[in-house]
Amino acid sequence: MFPGRLSDCLNVDDYRRAARRRAHKMVFDYIDGGSDDEIAQFENHTAFNDYRLAHRVLSGVDTPDMTTTIMGQKLEVPFILSPAAGNRLFHTDGEIGPATAAEAVGTAYCLSTLSSRSIEDIGALTTGPKWFQLYVWKDRVLVKEMLARAKSAGYTALILTVDFPITGNRERDPRNGFTIPPKLGLKQIWHAMNAPLWSLDYLTKPSVKYANLADDTSAVTLNDFVAQQLSADFSWDDAEWLLGEWNGPALIKGIARSDDAKRSVKTGFNAISLSNHGGRQLDSSPAPIHCVQAVRQAIGSDADLIVDGGIRRGTDVLKALALGADAVSFARPYLYGLAAFGTKGAVQAVRQLRDAVERDMILTGVGALDELDQSFIMTIK
Ligand SMILES: Cc1cc2nc3c(=O)[nH]c(=O)nc-3n(C[C@H](O)[C@H](O)[C@H](O)COP(=O)(O)O)c2cc1C
Repeated sequence: MFPGRLSDCLNVDDYRRAARRRAHKMVFDYIDGGSDDEIAQFENHTAFNDYRLAHRVLSGVDTPDMTTTIMGQKLEVPFILSPAAGNRLFHTDGEIGPATAAEAVGTAYCLSTLSSRSIEDIGALTTGPKWFQLYVWKDRVLVKEMLARAKSAGYTALILTVDFPITGNRERDPRNGFTIPPKLGLKQIWHAMNAPLWSLDYLTKPSVKYANLADDTSAVTLNDFVAQQLSADFSWDDAEWLLGEWNGPALIKGIARSDDAKRSVKTGFNAISLSNHGGRQLDSSPAPIHCVQAVRQAIGSDADLIVDGGIRRGTDVLKALALGADAVSFARPYLYGLAAFGTKGAVQAVRQLRDAVERDMILTGVGALDELDQSFIMTIK
């Protein structure tokens, strides 16, 4: 049964099923899918089941303090909204949805380089912290231009995504004939008829654009542009150059190994996101939650540590923190909400995760996030 109304949705899986019903098949699969056999995508979430939370009793907690500080920036909750490309494709509200949701719970929103709303529009939309995500482009003039735009639009941190030297092998997309912007062949028209709300929205509202790129970009599709621009030979020296250009708080996203984490600290990053891009890049890369303990041990307190991937419940957040992370981040939970119900769906999905963290802190007997340590973790296998 699909949850038909926003009020029917109680958890991330409800939004997922609602999104599957409303969105065009190729769009839902683009959000939902991973690479190759989707092992990494699947394990990102199921790996949380390797741990249990050994709750503490009679600790007198009734209003837990959920605040934390990441890269010197105070957040009201220990999670951040990860960047995701082209949100207009999922719903006409596009990135307005997650930016509004982040502001509603007092956390940071990360805007993708490949967003469908511009750096400036999202910069002006909310008062909450906004961070700007960058891919490693060949065109350094374009990179410098984007950094300058993000700075002047008030973005307070840079996120460099490094697990994307080329695009992963996401087989759902070619099977669906998916491109950005979508081409409507016979198969797509048939699927569009099964997704009337999405089709109406798509056909009657302004079309999908990569709002941060020049209108005259020679690439016909997003994949063409990405293939033209990605710089697989980008090195640690280039990362250092980039940090010099940005000259502000910076996070490196896509780390799995302790040696890369140490190198990130040495290069000057203030925060590390353990991430495999939601299982969309190298399949069989480890679940980020499995990397936390080793990386924390390797970097000590030299950088903030974020777990990105598979977060679906408040308990997932607490497990990540107890294992040694400072915060977590996620994309699909708000993307499913957006795809199903627009901004209202993204906001409700994120608010429910905030409430879940609060409830689970009380149930775990934890009054502040820094009380969470390994003593709360029971490893199952
Ligand atoms: C539809 C979609 C688009 C994404 N686009 C980007 C992007 O533009 N830049 C980026 O760094 N990561 C991107 N990601 C990866 C997310 O930032 C994040 O690492 C991942 O989705 C976390 O896993 P989760 O979806 O299970 O929370 C995207 C993910 C999805 C699902």
